Amino acid sequence: MSLDPRYLATGVDAALEAGRIHRRYFRQHPDIHKKGRIDLVTNADLEAERMFRDLIAQRFPDHVVVGEEAGAVAPPEGRCRWIIDPVDGTTNFAHGLALFCVSIALEVDGQLALGVVYDPINEELFTAERGEGARLNGEPIHVSMCAELVDGLLVTGFPYTIREERRRQVDVFAAFLHEAQAVRRLGSAALDLCYVAAGRLDGYWEERVFPWDIAAGALLVAEAGGTVTGLDNQPFDPFGLQILATNGPLHEPMLEVIRRVHQESA
Ligand code: IPD
Ligand code: CA
Ligand code: CA
Repeated sequence: MSLDPRYLATGVDAALEAGRIHRRYFRQHPDIHKKGRIDLVTNADLEAERMFRDLIAQRFPDHVVVGEEAGAVAPPEGRCRWIIDPVDGTTNFAHGLALFCVSIALEVDGQLALGVVYDPINEELFTAERGEGARLNGEPIHVSMCAELVDGLLVTGFPYTIREERRRQVDVFAAFLHEAQAVRRLGSAALDLCYVAAGRLDGYWEERVFPWDIAAGALLVAEAGGTVTGLDNQPFDPFGLQILATNGPLHEPMLEVIRRVHQESA
């Protein structure tokens, strides 16, 4: 059954409005507060999430919203659950580095149905609906054809808890430095995934990521012809705190590297 067209329209309206909020504060001395030792929040994060919650309450009062800033607790299951990261790449945003976006996903009956990611500085709007392909500013996009890990440009990220995490995450990073063409750490999980969907990057992995970081981008990669699973090759779960998203041909080679490092560190 095809998705109510008002959902995509709402995701896009909200993403563009969030982008206006981002632009109003970007490089304009936003208020910056620390949620943790290295975990920041700005007035752009708070205002964009508030705007989104108000919009959904007004248009779809029975829909549930899970957002990064207003509490991570998932409310009781609703048929429609929106997942928003009002600014993905907050550290970049706070430093005036133009690599951030808003990320919005919609789950219907527990299945990812819609993903919208908007980078307001480069004016790139990524959209995907389940079964309908992935688009960048309205044009279809596709993952890369890269077939060898040694030719692959990979990307990853690290959680704010990296100081307390097992050394294993750094070991996986080091292993890919030796196996791939190069590895990037851009600071926005949602853009990492959109760039895999658009064929600019060939594979992305991350541990301890949250549904608002990855839900929209995961659907974009899948709809752009890529492969998305957990790091253990289990079916992808947006709430499962881990992800491997690739162009497809690099999936098994990347799983192999991860498996090897995990075995060595067990
Ligand atoms: C972070 C970014 C980063 C990823 C972190 C996320 P935030 O989100 O997506 O790339 O490595 O795991 O927490 O805090 O900028 O919304
Ligand atoms: Ca995020
Ligand atoms: Ca965020």
